[in-house]
This record gives sequence, C-alpha cells and structure tokens, in this order.
Amino acid sequence: MKAYVIVHRDFRIADIDDRLYSSFLEHLGRAIYGGIYEPGHPTADENGFRKDVIELVRELNSPYCRYPGGNFVSAYNWEDGVGPRSERPVRLDLAWRTRESNQIGVNEFVDWCKKANTKPMLAVNLGSRGLDAARNFLEYCNHPSGTYWSDLRRKHGWADPHGVKLWCLGNEMDGPWQVGHKSAYEYGRLADETAKAMRGFDKSLELVVCGSSNSDMKTYPDWEAQVLEQCYDSADHISLHMYFANREKNTLNYLAKAEKLDRYIVTIGGVIDYIKAKKRSKKTIGISFDEWNVWYHSNQQDKEILARDEWPDAPHLLEDVYNFEDVLQVGGILNTFIRRSDRVRIACIAQLVNVIAPIMTEDGGPAWRQTIYYPLYFASKYGRGYALRLVTDGPTYDSDEADDVPYLDVSAVHDEIGKMVTLFAVNRHPDIALDLDTRLEGFAGARVVEQHEMVHSDLQATNTAAHPNAVVPTNTGDAKIEDGRLRATLKPLSYTVIRLAV
Ligand code: AHR
Repeated sequence: MKAYVIVHRDFRIADIDDRLYSSFLEHLGRAIYGGIYEPGHPTADENGFRKDVIELVRELNSPYCRYPGGNFVSAYNWEDGVGPRSERPVRLDLAWRTRESNQIGVNEFVDWCKKANTKPMLAVNLGSRGLDAARNFLEYCNHPSGTYWSDLRRKHGWADPHGVKLWCLGNEMDGPWQVGHKSAYEYGRLADETAKAMRGFDKSLELVVCGSSNSDMKTYPDWEAQVLEQCYDSADHISLHMYFANREKNTLNYLAKAEKLDRYIVTIGGVIDYIKAKKRSKKTIGISFDEWNVWYHSNQQDKEILARDEWPDAPHLLEDVYNFEDVLQVGGILNTFIRRSDRVRIACIAQLVNVIAPIMTEDGGPAWRQTIYYPLYFASKYGRGYALRLVTDGPTYDSDEADDVPYLDVSAVHDEIGKMVTLFAVNRHPDIALDLDTRLEGFAGARVVEQHEMVHSDLQATNTAAHPNAVVPTNTGDAKIEDGRLRATLKPLSYTVIRLAV
C-alpha cells in the first residue's frame, strides 16, 4: 500500500516552542515520594533525590515540569511545604485520599528541577484558596529580599529567588470533582483578578488559565469562551487536558483518538479567535496542553485502593503499565502537537514518574523506561525547529471516532541550525506495510543519516523491572533517497523516526 507525502522547505506551520516537550509531577501516589524522592534509596543524593530517576529525566530533556498538581493543588497550602522539615504539618490530601507528609515542597522541587535539567511551571490553588495565597506564594518564590515572604524564603535556606516565570491559575476548575469547583464566570473573574495581582508583582510572568478538563465535559467549549471573556487580556495561555484509553480493545478506534485531540485543539483555536475578535485584541492566547497521556490500565486497581477507608502514604495510584500499542498512541499525540504547534505552545506529559508516567520505579529498587518513554524521547530530541506543513495522500479507514482516518500519521520538523529534517511516522494499519513515497522540495542532496523503528509482535508487550528492555527502538528500516524522493517501508503497527541531513 502506498502513502505519499510532500515535504516542502517553505511550507512552515510554526517555530515549535520547545516547551511542547514538558512534563508534570503531582503530589499523587508515588510520583514524588518513591518517585523522585526516596531518601535511603541506594542512588539517593544528599537531598534524598533518586539519581537513577534524575538520569532518566535528564535524558528526556523536558524543558518545564508542572507542579504540584493536578487535583492536589486545589486544596493545597503551599506554606505547609516550606520551612524546617520536622515542623511541617502532615495533612490529608482530599483529591487522592492520601496522607501528605509535606517533606517535599516548592524549594526542594526547584532544587530537583535544576538537577533534572528542567524548569518549574508552578500552579496556584484557586480551589480552596485564592488571590491572596497566590500573590504571597509568588512573592515567596520570586522576590529577592527585604519583605516578609522573601525573607522567610531566605530564612528557610534559599537566599536566591527562584525566578519562576510560568504559572498555572488553578487546575481543572470546570470539573465537579475539583475542590472549590466553580462556574466559568466565577472562575474567569477569579483568574482575572489573580492574574492582575500577580502581574502587579511582575509584568513578564506567563499565566495559564484553565480550559476544559477534556472535550467530553458538558460545559465544553462554552467554558473556554466564558472564561476567556473574563480574562482574555490578563492571560497568556489556556490549558487543555486529555487522556486516552483503549477499554474496548479496538486498536483502530484507539489510534483514531488523535483525530479527536486534533478537533479539540482546532475548536479551542476557534474560541480563542472569537474572543480575540470580540475584545478587539492584538494578542493571540496560546494553548497549554498541560496534561495528556494514555490513562486506563490502572483504573481497576485505583478503584480498589480508593475504596479502602484508609489514608495511606504514597499509595500505588495511577500506576499504568504501558504496552507497545501505547507507543503508537503517544507517537500520534505528539505528531498532533507538532502539526498544531501554531496553537499549542506548551504541552506536559502527565505525568513523569510512576503516576501514568514514562518512568517507573520500585521502592528501593530500579528505575526503568516504560514503552511510551521512547516516542517522547525522540520527539523531544529531534522535534525542535520548524514544524512543516505536509501534503499527504494515502489509504484511510472509518472509525467510531472519525471517518477517513489516514493509516499514515506523520509529522516533520526542520532543524535549520542542525540542517536536519526529521519525520515521525506511525503506521496504524494492523497488517499491511505502507510504502512511504516522499517528495522533498527545497532539500536537494538530502541524505538519510539515522532511522529508529519500534515494532513488536505483541501489542500488549510491556517493560517491567525484570524485563526493562522488552520494548525498545532499533536502528532498523530501509529508508533511502532515490531520485530526490525519500522511500521507506513502514511496517504494520509501527512507529518510525527518519532523520535526513539537508
Ligand atoms: O494527572 C492525573 C489527574 O488528572 C490530575 O490530578 C487532574 O488534573 C486530572 O484530572
């Protein structure tokens, strides 16, 4: 089966914002405790951070890491996580029915970010709290000295301000499950006033307001319109979230869900333009897709843990073990973000360690890469530069999600400085290889320099502590340039990265 692509040097979508490859860590399950922090672990550093985990995070080169939640943030007192550890209160986290020891707070997190080569994207609590706690938190983090909050930070041992520039104003405030859930109008007003106060401190902050928790919410997409109506001028980005599942065990329907993601982004792009026009504004709000991933493997286990009448410390919540099929889904999601990089400026995989995460750990034991680690790794490594607008033609299929879904899901990025073009391709076809035939325009003398392929005979194959390399990429494939065209065989249900020197 043939699939045609035209890659033209001048057909650009956008200069991809590096923050597309960001991540997320919440005080949830074993993300923090047992994930990034485990004093007593054989690899723990002087601060109790697991060095094996830091290594794997560094390899992902994730520009920003969102923290501390998630649903957790909506009842969180940031002050509980600062000051002498022995004096920090143990609290009940209402979002995940967990005991929170507060042994990690914002200062430790900022330290960890430096070690992991990432930057903090902090969320303020607009659920149980509001403007005042938010502005104090900001001053504590970012003011150099000479005020109550900045001197308190210094007293706690952090003399230099943290300089956090990217802030989320609450989390999923449209969700009835959220502590302090609000109507769109209530939230929009609060976000606007909070943004104004935060900008009173520092005009250059980048502020993210809450959009819908997913595109199946009853209030979607009116929520976005109403929220932006209230705070378009004071916000920089609107946040979207989406999780993917294959509960029906139907691979083609599952892989078509990237189409739903695409529609979600396009729809909110339209809402942004509508409010922009209404406000007679010059500014275009961006999309911060700050929670996305596959999430369903752990649902049953989570139900059982949450049904217990207990408040455990760091329970095994949301510990999805990803399979090979999820590699194809994550590859497709990242392709969608690259193709929509004119709208999506920030995206955070949710989450980073143990909790629906590309990195898994065992308490006291090893850390390893889950299957989905690899498409994220490749996109972050090679997906920086200009996203190219491709022209494609090939076979399609109808699914529950959408009709005419192409079997070939492809994106391409031109790194002008490194003089490279990278194609990321998923063949969604269950049993037929696609003969990729790509016309290269404006890239005379292009050469194939690298190929990575992920294929597996078992869609359910996983990586585990005992078998961490059951699903890994290989440097295989037959990509070649012939008469100025890139030709390659994309195996059935495969993820392929082809790199061209141009
Ligand atoms: O990432 C897990 C949870 O999913 C987050 O806490 C919440 O924001 C979303 O519903």
